[in-house]
Amino acid sequence: MKADVLLGLQWGDEGKGKVVDVLTPRYDVIARFQGGPNAGHTLEFEGIKHVLHTIPSGIFHPGKINVIGNGVVIDPVVFKKEIDALIQRGVDVKKNLCISRKAHLILPTHRLLDAASEAAKGSAKIGSTLKGIGPAYMDKTGRNGLRVGDIENAGFRDLYNALVAKHRDLLSHYEYKYDLSEFEPAFFEGIELIKSLPLIDSEFELNRFLQDGKSILAEGAQGSLLDIDFGSYPFVTSSHTITAGTCIGLGMAPSRIGEVYGIFKAYCTRVGSGPFPTELHDATGEELRKKGHEFGATTGRPRRCGWLDLPALKYAIMLNGVTQLIMMKSDVLSGFETLKVCTHYKYRGKIIDYVPYDVVNEPVEPVYEELEGWSEDLTAVSDVAQLPSALQRYIDYIEQATGLPITIVSVGPDRRQTLMRNVTVG
Ligand code: GDP
Ligand code: IMO
Ligand code: MG
Repeated sequence: MKADVLLGLQWGDEGKGKVVDVLTPRYDVIARFQGGPNAGHTLEFEGIKHVLHTIPSGIFHPGKINVIGNGVVIDPVVFKKEIDALIQRGVDVKKNLCISRKAHLILPTHRLLDAASEAAKGSAKIGSTLKGIGPAYMDKTGRNGLRVGDIENAGFRDLYNALVAKHRDLLSHYEYKYDLSEFEPAFFEGIELIKSLPLIDSEFELNRFLQDGKSILAEGAQGSLLDIDFGSYPFVTSSHTITAGTCIGLGMAPSRIGEVYGIFKAYCTRVGSGPFPTELHDATGEELRKKGHEFGATTGRPRRCGWLDLPALKYAIMLNGVTQLIMMKSDVLSGFETLKVCTHYKYRGKIIDYVPYDVVNEPVEPVYEELEGWSEDLTAVSDVAQLPSALQRYIDYIEQATGLPITIVSVGPDRRQTLMRNVTVG
């Protein structure tokens, strides 16, 4: 068996959580491979709305195994809140969830360092979610980090104190006031909870699952345009959000990757700072935000909104080796007389169709093609055949431009508002 991957092709919040939940019945195992509680993955069904940050979006399906992979960074405080909320909803978390020993821990001081670093950057701030992601991954690559497996070590407190001493030293270089004693009790409560869950050597388990004929869906967080290498650096997150990140973040060889579902909104959004070529600063942008309820699932911040950006989408498709596309939030585009799609950029006096090196200091200008809109409400549509012809043409247009099939069209936040068009499972 091969592992299929589902990941975002834009700047995050494409609707990954919703679709992973919808596809989970087709898989045995769901595994998160990177990111941490900067993610907010929303699931809606049976009148319930639930946001997950660290836990894979397959958790609501009894009998499915959910794995938090080695590439993830876990904040025990956020994690405990997530678990408590799930238990309250009656989810048997302890039975269905396991954690890689090699996943790294986010300490309270990582969060403080994130806040201090952002505050020091002033107007150049990244717009981080302030969840301690950057500092935790810095400690990982700097070879100072604490891992979930360290919790099983009797000397864990000493390891913790040694890393905190390093962090205090770093924090002393910022004018940043803090009281660590406020945060430590919740941190150690979270550590105790993690200890009570199955801690596994996930690279062995996941490869064994495949060998035994079990199917795996790997769930990405953030989006391809926030990738540490290929996003609009430095306005990115600190992990590899692309397909290659699945191999690293789960210990899975590239030859083990099957289908790659690339998920995108029918338009674009971004939270935080950084380039956004098709961003709309006008009433249309406001309308997209209002209709799409574009406010961050993790921070509540208003999301910046704009038209679909094809050069960026094609870039993400190339980086990920996408085999099928999933288009989200089509319902939000209902009611616009015309829709714009960015097909090219103007850059240094030329028309180009790729993402150049420095879009931070030398912004690109979008070149648009205008397409006909549709007015029909899509939220009750239950079959692709019932979609308005202008939307069918929008779909055809994107399929032609990308050379890939759009196999799922989403028309609302609920599980049921998902239209299938010949989805292939690897
Ligand atoms: P994720 O981070 O990629 O999982 O996405 P988020 O959960 O952060 O953001 C997606 C938002 O759009 C959530 O509020 C979803 O409930 C909602 N959503 C998902 N699909 C659709 C859709 O097709 N239409 C509408 N209107 N909302 C959707
Ligand atoms: P999901 O998984 C949207 C953005 C932040 C900021 C930048 C760096 O829900 O799609 P970080 O906290 O990683 O240091 O922030 O990345 N960002 C996200 N934007 N969705 C996310 O996750 C995000 N996770 C981080 O807003 O611009
Ligand atoms: Mg999100």
